[in-house]
Amino acid sequence: MLKQILYSSTANTDISMRDVFEITRVSSNRNSQSSLTGGLVFLDGYFFQLLEGLPNDVDASMQRINRDWRHHDIQVRREQRVISPLFADDWMALRNKTQIADEILEAHHYEPGMPAERFSADDLFAFLVACFENEMQEQLA
Ligand SMILES: Cc1cc2nc3c(=O)[nH]c(=O)nc-3n(C[C@H](O)[C@H](O)[C@H](O)COP(=O)(O)O)c2cc1C
Repeated sequence: MLKQILYSSTANTDISMRDVFEITRVSSNRNSQSSLTGGLVFLDGYFFQLLEGLPNDVDASMQRINRDWRHHDIQVRREQRVISPLFADDWMALRNKTQIADEILEAHHYEPGMPAERFSADDLFAFLVACFENEMQEQLA
């Protein structure tokens, strides 16, 4: 069984888009070494990340992610065991503001940070999946 973890976090205010691309680049390299896959959404200064793989590998990666100065207030919003990965072909896919259609934001009643008081784990999960939907359809094709 694989472990799938979904968290939200607040990006440090002085982070640039270049930093975010760098995070994705390093993450893809690292994740490919331990067969971790997932997706990272960067929106309005918040991150939402889904990370999946063998439980020990996910935990080791989360330990590094937790210590990373580029974000804080890391909240694990959902943790579950799955049989097959959602992001089968992506070590770490990225979506940012310009890549997410307004209709997706509206359909999910998007608010910056998707605060846990108002958005359940399932709400956040559905939102993240929607952000990557085109890509997943391509993978299935
Ligand atoms: C929002 C965010 C998401 C990240 N996602 C991953 C990831 O999926 N995999 C990963 O190895 N590192 C990820 N990192 C980077 C790690 O925190 C860390 O910098 C990287 O793994 C290199 O660790 P090392 O310097 O100990 O080798 C992420 C960092 C941030 C801020």
